[in-house]
Amino acid sequence: MKRLEVLPLLRRESMGDAYHVLTFEAAVDTGASAGQFVMVRGAEWGDAPLLPRPMSYLSGGRTPSILIKVVGEGTLRMARAEPGEPFTLLGPLGRPWRGAHPGRRPVLVAGGVGVAPLVFLARDMAKSGLRPLAIYGGRTARDLPLDDELAESCELVVTTEDGSRGRRGRVTDELLERLSADIDVFTCGPDRMMAKVAELCRERDVPCAVSLETPMACGYGVCLGCAVPREEGGYLYACVDGPCIDARQVSFSSDSHAPVKGAPRVL
Ligand SMILES: Cc1cc2nc3c(=O)[nH]c(=O)nc-3n(C[C@H](O)[C@H](O)[C@H](O)COP(=O)(O)OP(=O)(O)OC[C@H]3O[C@@H](n4cnc5c(N)ncnc54)[C@H](O)[C@@H]3O)c2cc1C
Ligand code: FES
Repeated sequence: MKRLEVLPLLRRESMGDAYHVLTFEAAVDTGASAGQFVMVRGAEWGDAPLLPRPMSYLSGGRTPSILIKVVGEGTLRMARAEPGEPFTLLGPLGRPWRGAHPGRRPVLVAGGVGVAPLVFLARDMAKSGLRPLAIYGGRTARDLPLDDELAESCELVVTTEDGSRGRRGRVTDELLERLSADIDVFTCGPDRMMAKVAELCRERDVPCAVSLETPMACGYGVCLGCAVPREEGGYLYACVDGPCIDARQVSFSSDSHAPVKGAPRVL
């Protein structure tokens, strides 16, 4: 059940300038499941940025946390927040990750900041006795925040595009070598990465769940700003049909970040 709450920031842990984990203090359990997201806005931001920003839960419970990558004004303000600063949080929202298919090994494919909902999932899987394989990629060694957290519950393989850590190349190079009929893929990262992962899985008839990070305005199905082309035609709405969804339902051949005609611009 979603709630709108003003919660104080408990702590901010920074990994360089770009990546920060923000942990909030809640009076009651947030009830968030792995893969769900929360709309976040500083309660004292004033007029701009106007809209809350969607962020995947890194963890739920009484101390919900998010991992942010600084890309614009909203995330920059979050990156500068100090303990005690009040934030408005609306969540949990969206569909969580589905359960793992019995008898298949879970393979988590993460790109950059897309690791957050997969760390949450990996921790849950570890509690149920599963040890997934995680393939985690970034442009450089600095773009792999939370790699240690992933390694705690997974067998971890790392790729970087510049070769500064792990295998030089992309996560999809590694996945291609490890694709087999008995795996079960969960992925979150840049659209092009997820599109390639989905394509590889479809070719081999491997189940694949993706977490969509389409820009959103409301987060709960009202503004229709998060439309994503559906494979069978028409659109699905990332905030209510996703963010976690079967990859075969999504038409990755279209540009899912292109604004759909008539959709509001995110401010
Ligand atoms: C369900 C969901 C979960 C998400 N989880 C996380 C998370 O765990 N950590 C995290 O750092 N980010 C996450 N995002 C993305 C995050 O919401 C955006 O990065 C954020 O809204 C940018 O706000 P801003 O004000 O800093 O940047 P803006 O000023 O709004 O935008 C700066 C630049 O980033 C681009 N941009 C904005 N939003 C997105 C997006 N969703 N995808 C690609 N490009 C975008 C804009 O086009 C612009 O070029 C998630 C998005 C969704 C929909
Ligand atoms: S973000 Fe408003 S309908 Fe999805």
